[in-house]
Amino acid sequence: MLQVDIGSLKLNSPFIMASGILGVSGSTLAKAHHAGAGAVVSKSLGPETREGYMNPSVIELFPDTFLNAVGLANPGIDEFAGEVAFAKKEGATVILSVFGGELGEYGEMAAKAEEMGADAVELNISCPHAHVSCIGADATLTDEVIRIVKAKTSLPVIAKLNPNVTDIVEIARTAEKAGADAVTAINTVRGMAIDIDAKCPVLANKSGGLSGKLLKPIAVKVVYDLYEALQIPIIGCGGIFDWRDAAEFFLAGAIAVEVGSALWRGFDLFGELANGMKKYLKNNNFSQLSEITGLAHRGATQL
Ligand SMILES: Cc1cc2nc3c(=O)[nH]c(=O)nc-3n(C[C@H](O)[C@H](O)[C@H](O)COP(=O)(O)O)c2cc1C
Repeated sequence: MLQVDIGSLKLNSPFIMASGILGVSGSTLAKAHHAGAGAVVSKSLGPETREGYMNPSVIELFPDTFLNAVGLANPGIDEFAGEVAFAKKEGATVILSVFGGELGEYGEMAAKAEEMGADAVELNISCPHAHVSCIGADATLTDEVIRIVKAKTSLPVIAKLNPNVTDIVEIARTAEKAGADAVTAINTVRGMAIDIDAKCPVLANKSGGLSGKLLKPIAVKVVYDLYEALQIPIIGCGGIFDWRDAAEFFLAGAIAVEVGSALWRGFDLFGELANGMKKYLKNNNFSQLSEITGLAHRGATQL
């Protein structure tokens, strides 16, 4: 009932663990898989170890809404090979999130991901508090990076989109034309919080990316717009805390969704999302999730 195909990637569940929240080791990737995640995305990995920014790097702004500037802290892709092997041995479908210091390095990261046995790569061209966001903010660079990566790997390539742009649909169309197999929409939205007593920004990096509840309406609107423009699958992401949130994304046009901030509450969420969606489909006389993909576009009220 909930099986989905993202290009050649076949998933038993449309609920995917998003990059960066808990995908920092093979054991957490495997835990998410055993809890029912259809696939798990690793923390974004680059060519070498990166310590990231000083603390505070993650703060809760409002209940279930966060601002983070972790700064792509990661052990480097080579150090992660054992973690991928462990997660794969446990049966997980592993999507490796990768980035590079320059465009060519994205190709090298994707080739390494394939050698390591990953099932797909997600290109982080969108983290709002790191240099990579400038790629996802520029159609020419987006085109180039995807072509480079496609030439280096036969794995499905997913472009994770940057919402901090004037026209995200244009960037997504460019990604599709360049050969992306799917897009993830969206990464975090740029934001800042200021401590009025200390009279300075709260995050050590000053600004960061907004995630969680407040991101959902922004992300749903992006997915809705992309559905009208793209042929390739759209993976929704942003503020999913329960099956009702997920249903909004499916009705807007996503064929799968990634869950990030809500995982602070634990991995049981994957089972709850699947059970809730199955009941929703049954109560509405649908037999497959695919029957509701983009349904909100039929007869929808134009704003
Ligand atoms: C602490 C933290 C770290 C993140 N690290 C990454 C990352 O390494 N790569 C990436 O593509 N996205 C990263 N993200 C963004 C999430 O994958 C996701 O796109 C975003 O948080 C929106 O989903 P959510 O509202 O369900 O959290 C991170 C988000 C948070 C909160």
